Amino acid sequence: MTTVPTVTNVTSPRPRALVTGASRGIGAAIARALAPTHDVLLGGRDVRSLEAIAHELPGDAGPWVADLADPGALARATTDIDRLDVLVHNAAVTEPGTIADTSLDVWQRVFAVNLFSAAELTRLLLPPLRRGRGHVVLINAGSGLRITSHRGAYAASKYALRAFAETLQAEESPNGVRVTSIHPGPTDTELQRRAAERAGREYRPEQFLRPESVAAVVLNAVRAPADATVSRTVID
Ligand SMILES: NC(=O)c1ccc[n+]([C@@H]2O[C@H](COP(=O)([O-])OP(=O)(O)OC[C@H]3O[C@@H](n4cnc5c(N)ncnc54)[C@H](OP(=O)(O)O)[C@@H]3O)[C@@H](O)[C@H]2O)c1
Repeated sequence: MTTVPTVTNVTSPRPRALVTGASRGIGAAIARALAPTHDVLLGGRDVRSLEAIAHELPGDAGPWVADLADPGALARATTDIDRLDVLVHNAAVTEPGTIADTSLDVWQRVFAVNLFSAAELTRLLLPPLRRGRGHVVLINAGSGLRITSHRGAYAASKYALRAFAETLQAEESPNGVRVTSIHPGPTDTELQRRAAERAGREYRPEQFLRPESVAAVVLNAVRAPADATVSRTVID
């Protein structure tokens, strides 16, 4: 596992955000939406695709490379982050299948990225978040609110992520940390394209939310006045 140094420009007066899963899809759109006002650390595993996005962005944007399924990598990649204003847990994986067909390996892979990494990354970054009276944004899903068949591991991880978010809010709002869960409906990203391909369905992007629309909702939550917390937003 490769970990490149994180961006640590202590002289920048702008707030700093870390967005996981920023190499494409909703995460890349969130990074683009935050970049005019924030220095953005772009999370992902492929340094080249992250660098390509970082080069387009204003401010002090840069890759933050870590495999979220590797707790050791999270510890290494957070040691240099001494200040942080916004942490967006966006990365997730889905491996569709019925409960009858879902092996323990799949449950463990899905939970490692979708839940455990969010818990561990939050724990590691709470000191700078508390110092900056920061904001934790969790990109959840419709699957975190209601159940459909054939995606039990994904839905269970998103239900658990909701419980995590609500506990975090209860514990950290006295410390000035805000917590927001965003539940987008189906959105035009690779995740949906792959699902359509697997199901042999025609893919029509116009039937989905645009990643930029989800990012605009995230930006609104981040921009809310400090005394207002957008706890949960469902996007249809
Ligand atoms: N698309 C939808 O319809 C939809 C609807 C509701 C909610 N959501 C939620 O929105 C979020 C983003 O989804 P998306 O559709 O944009 O997904 P996507 O296009 O599949 O992108 C997933 C991102 O997660 C990163 N990632 C995956 N596994 C990782 C790992 N082990 N370590 C580090 N990074 C990892 C990927 O980075 P790499 O480049 O390293 O692979 C990529 O940047 C997810 O939380 C998803 O559940 C999506």
